[in-house]
Amino acid sequence: MNHAKTTSQRFSVELPVYQANLGCAILDGSGFPDNYYFQDLGLKHTSFCQSAICYIDGAQGTLLYRGYPVESLCRQYTYESIIYLLLFGELPSKRVLTTFTRKLHADMSVPDYCYQLLETLPHDHHPMGILLTLVSALSADDTQLLDDPDDMAIRIIAQMPLLVAMSQRHAKGLPPVRIAKPTEYVEDFLIYLQDQRPSTLAHQVFDRILTLHAEHEQNASTCTLRVSGSTGTNAYAALAAALTALWGPAHGGANEACMAMLEAIGTCDRIPEYIEKAKSKTDPFRLMGFGHRVYRNRDPRADVMKSLARDVLDHKQDEPLFRLARSLEKRALEDPYFISHQLYPNVDYYSGIVQRALGIDCQSFTTVFALARTSGWMSHWLEMQRDRTPIIRPRQHYIGPRQRDL
Ligand code: ACO
Repeated sequence: MNHAKTTSQRFSVELPVYQANLGCAILDGSGFPDNYYFQDLGLKHTSFCQSAICYIDGAQGTLLYRGYPVESLCRQYTYESIIYLLLFGELPSKRVLTTFTRKLHADMSVPDYCYQLLETLPHDHHPMGILLTLVSALSADDTQLLDDPDDMAIRIIAQMPLLVAMSQRHAKGLPPVRIAKPTEYVEDFLIYLQDQRPSTLAHQVFDRILTLHAEHEQNASTCTLRVSGSTGTNAYAALAAALTALWGPAHGGANEACMAMLEAIGTCDRIPEYIEKAKSKTDPFRLMGFGHRVYRNRDPRADVMKSLARDVLDHKQDEPLFRLARSLEKRALEDPYFISHQLYPNVDYYSGIVQRALGIDCQSFTTVFALARTSGWMSHWLEMQRDRTPIIRPRQHYIGPRQRDL
């Protein structure tokens, strides 16, 4: 029963306005009257924290990591430099990067009980669920926790390639791969995953995939990590919270759902039928990999991902699905519904196609996203430690019954 009341009453209040470095002005709500709550369902207009890590201009289709456009970073820096940039705010010099990566590589291992725990899990479990189980196990291990927040963040980022590879391989019935001495983050992830040295192309494309997915300000999973982290829970536990939020098809699960959709469509002649389904008010179907809460013009990551798809498919000849995806994109972008709703391909639209061409199976896509996003998540976790963020505890609009007698 919905007890919500509608009212035509209006209310005005004077609040200080701050100009942000970039983007929308900020209304400072800290002086908001105690007897009112501000309702913003889905937090579409709410800035719930301050952060210096990432900036998105949804109207322009711009994504900056610490001020640098993601497309330029992708072209000029490796993912290891991006991790450093996100965590510490500046691109590393050669010398700084050498010291940083030495530390990172030294932490690329997990305790033996992770391997034992893995063996107890059925092979038909989803790789995201397996990953969550392993990360949750680490959250209960005091010996893995480090006092220095920088060291803690680096350790978690270092462990993720192995944890993700273990999860993906286990779901395929394969045993984990061990490396005596890790020497490069992305290459070693691919060795952990595929038990062989990757081609230069695969290495380069994966490096870019990780950079493209590394950070995206207050998306659902980062927001979840911040809420969880604000209670003072340990970094592994906060990471587990973020993983659960990432898994959903409206967020990181979209690339898996997008591939399932393309396979269900199958051939170009069925595109109009699916466009109509996506537009229908009575059909819950949506075009997966389309639309974004923030981007209303283009998702800059989608353009890079599309060009990566071209690079890998040149070698793999996996054309039919890519052709279908391009046709669907073209038809949707010409359709008045998608134009008026400002719906464009997002990063997940082509990412499944790229990953599959590189040998990743559909149900593992989101774990690759998780690997990439861990550097962003840990940057937010570190920022919270430095800023001493207060507990995040919003209020609600109560629509239940009034107090009643039993
Ligand atoms: N296909 C068809 N219609 C859509 C789509 C879509 N993919 N996305 C949004 N719409 C429509 C909605 O039906 C709604 O229409 P209406 O106003 O006529 O009722 C309108 O556009 C606004 O939709 P909302 O859900 O309110 O938009 P919101 O900003 O909350 O959602 C989201 C963004 C969740 C990404 C949505 O676009 C979606 O579900 N996309 C498909 C899933 C997807 O690709 N997710 C990945 C996002 S990127 C990432 O997480 C890395």
